[in-house]
Amino acid sequence: MHQKRIDEAKKRLFSGELVIFPTETVYGIGGNANNKTAIQLIYQTKKRPFDNPLICHFANIEEIKKNFKLKKKDKELASVFWPGPLTLILEKNKYSKITSLVSNKKNLVGCRIPNNKIALSLLSELNFPLAAPSANIASKTSVTSVNDLDDNLKKIFHIDGGSSVLGLESTVIKTTDTGCKILRLGSLTIEEIKNKFANYEIEIENSILSPGSQLKHYSPKKPIRINVNIVKKNEALLNFGKNKLNSSIKNLNLSTEENLIEASHNFYNYLNILDITECSGIAVAPIPDHDLGKTINDRLKRASHKDE
Ligand code: TXA
Ligand code: MG
Repeated sequence: MHQKRIDEAKKRLFSGELVIFPTETVYGIGGNANNKTAIQLIYQTKKRPFDNPLICHFANIEEIKKNFKLKKKDKELASVFWPGPLTLILEKNKYSKITSLVSNKKNLVGCRIPNNKIALSLLSELNFPLAAPSANIASKTSVTSVNDLDDNLKKIFHIDGGSSVLGLESTVIKTTDTGCKILRLGSLTIEEIKNKFANYEIEIENSILSPGSQLKHYSPKKPIRINVNIVKKNEALLNFGKNKLNSSIKNLNLSTEENLIEASHNFYNYLNILDITECSGIAVAPIPDHDLGKTINDRLKRASHKDE
């Protein structure tokens, strides 16, 4: 059904253009990871600073092994969680042709195999990896359906794969001698990793829990207030579970059943819908701080961070 679009995407990628494609987490804006000019174009289009590295997407582990050195724990995590929302930070080997622009001139590159039929079929027809950050303007919200694409990004060739199944970005991980370090919380939860690898020591990079130390990120245009117990006049409401909160502008509930998987799936799309109402700001109900709720809260803290 999507084959014609995939063929067209392939043609464009071979000629150095960018293409927006679906993954199971969020949509990505991709370019040939071996082509410096294509990668420059990604940073420019997204208005992203060059020191914020891009994730490379691969069709299978063999392609990753051609470009990177994998340690024992990398292989262990990969064997359980790929294809899926795991990004591993790996060291390039001497054969890799991936341009250093992808990773701020460093030898360490974020890699993942997405669990999405369109993405996998596109990747398997290319003879290079796709560097692809989320398909949004830097510091704005990630996009989980083509309708939510920024007007300027909509002009770029895109494949519509419906709404992203998971809805939150991949979890970025670097393995250590004793386990792993989480550099960005994401769709793969700490609980899932602990469940499969009970012997791993899991560190969480400090800065990801203290939003003040990070630039504003994952943010809608309107101001956000989190953990509210009252909705102010003219605020729209992003609710969770059953409670008495109510907005006179617009109410959306991430999951009335308090299901965090459903809430993650709805998260960015609902933020976008509320953002374009006549509201003065968005009030967000408390979200439980475990499993995917931890990732949602991480994004909310950054989105509500006020620039100094
Ligand atoms: O789910 C996802 O990860 C989506 C889809 C499209 O795959 N991509 C995505 O990419 O969210 P992006 O570029 O928006 O976020 C990449 C994150 C950033 O926080 C970046 O700092 C981190 O991964 N990252 C990428 N490469 C890295 C590296 N070499 N070292 C440390 N962090 C890295
Ligand atoms: Mg992003």
